[in-house]
Amino acid sequence: MASIKNVHIDHPFTDQKPGTSGLRKSTKQFLGDHYLETFIEAILISLNNVEGSTLIVGGDGRYGNDSAIKKIIKICCAHKVGTIIVPQKGLLSTPAASDLIRTYSAIGGIILSASHNPGGRDGDFGVKLNVSNGGPAPETVTEKIYKCTQALTSYQFLDVDIPSLDSEGSFDIYRTKLKVIDGVKRYVSLMEDIFDFDQIGEYVKNDFSIIFDAMNAVTGPYAKEIFVNRLGLSDTSLLNSNPLPDFGHLHPDPNLTYAKELADLLLDQKKYSFGAACDGDGDRNMILGKGCFINPSDSLAVITANTSLVPGYKNGISGVARSMPTSMAVDVVAKELDIPCYETPTGWKFFGNLLDSGKITICGEESFGTGSNHVREKDGLWAVLFWLQILAQKKCSVIDLIRNHWMQFGRNYYTRHDYEAISSEVAYQIYEDLKSRLNELIGSHFASGVIIKADNYSYTDPIDRSISDNQGLRMILDNGSRVILRLSGTGTKGSTLRLYFEKYVKSQNDLFLDPQVALGDLIFGIDKLLNIKNRTKMDVPTVIT
Ligand code: G1P
Ligand code: ZN
Repeated sequence: MASIKNVHIDHPFTDQKPGTSGLRKSTKQFLGDHYLETFIEAILISLNNVEGSTLIVGGDGRYGNDSAIKKIIKICCAHKVGTIIVPQKGLLSTPAASDLIRTYSAIGGIILSASHNPGGRDGDFGVKLNVSNGGPAPETVTEKIYKCTQALTSYQFLDVDIPSLDSEGSFDIYRTKLKVIDGVKRYVSLMEDIFDFDQIGEYVKNDFSIIFDAMNAVTGPYAKEIFVNRLGLSDTSLLNSNPLPDFGHLHPDPNLTYAKELADLLLDQKKYSFGAACDGDGDRNMILGKGCFINPSDSLAVITANTSLVPGYKNGISGVARSMPTSMAVDVVAKELDIPCYETPTGWKFFGNLLDSGKITICGEESFGTGSNHVREKDGLWAVLFWLQILAQKKCSVIDLIRNHWMQFGRNYYTRHDYEAISSEVAYQIYEDLKSRLNELIGSHFASGVIIKADNYSYTDPIDRSISDNQGLRMILDNGSRVILRLSGTGTKGSTLRLYFEKYVKSQNDLFLDPQVALGDLIFGIDKLLNIKNRTKMDVPTVIT
């Protein structure tokens, strides 16, 4: 006979503060006694009225996924959640979770993922809460959860065996219904509503060789269904398509450093016309062409410029948004299309109100994230399909598409330099150094311009008027160039310093330079100003995008 157990812990956990995207810690920390459980308890308390409601639960398949889901189900049963929906094998991408929340009118979703951070026993684990609009919990909610954890000394769970999550089924557990569903089917039908699969299928089968890298993470099963079963490609168009608990030792972050195998195939060997990769939980994407890398900020601009080619957006788009450090390439397109363009802080949660209120249709971040109002998360496979639809319509190569885009709109040269996992002390010194000098920098010469604005970015949400301060230090030059400095809110080791550089060029003669060269004066200028190489003792950043 199942019974509800109350567990008491001696001291509340004081370090469960959600970051840019949920609570992210080492797997080992999450495996510690009561660590996951108390955080889930705090989520359920903070959500209010979970009794009788529907909740979506799943994760990106990393080490600990299955056991964490079962623990969560037991705690939800104790809280008398009405229905818990779990996709088969507990595998759920972040965008698919967002869709399921909306489809089932759930109160929210708990997604087990540390996104693009490595997995396995020695890697990272994470818990993200999405709320009833399908989007990441806003700061008011995450703050509430954090406060709750700081005083929490007990949690409850239903002491019962949870059935296998391997196949579809419906189970009554105490007062809760557990439904194990086919999560892939629903997501793929959403994609079919948006895109013309027949047209993409014809193009990729006949004229265009493509390769998709799932990085041994959650998008594998979705990609198999889309690319192989629906678009008719062979299995060989997929790389690393079986989700593994440690992602096969890959760092599932789709960029040129960590998706090296794919990058080599496209950029060095020039073996395919199109290549793409998604991250651990399927919300990020990287787009590559033969011999060409598409910067995510440019990807957002290209998508925005071509929405009329995609059936799901043929009635037009209301507006766009980008995170502050994302390049202003999309602003140029928005101006041309005469639609509003919003600037928000880093993190998808800031797009939620704009999407819900219908002010924007498309949004994106420089960190390989692009999405639309079809869900409330960035969506990796959606972005890949969007590119394929544009290419199938225009029947051109990736490099021609991007070059024509720059020729029409001008080019926002852009790069991001990450100094990963450096000592927190050094990172804060560099950050505080710039912060304390912002005022005096205004009016001074920097690189090939004069700094006309230097501030610590603060955002007022246009819908609920909530204010988010300290969202990144930025320097804006009289020629429109920008240099931005932020500390990452998703890392788990030391601190990660992110530097973002941007310069706009319109002249047709200057459109095809290497971004590291085109932005060289800004890169040099910030090192001179802040002594970054010396202070970090690193000659080059860990990752250059
Ligand atoms: C990073 C990205 C940010 C993204 C987040 C979650 O956050 O920079 O754009 O929303 O991951 O994918 P950061 O580590 O910079 O705080
Ligand atoms: Zn992710």
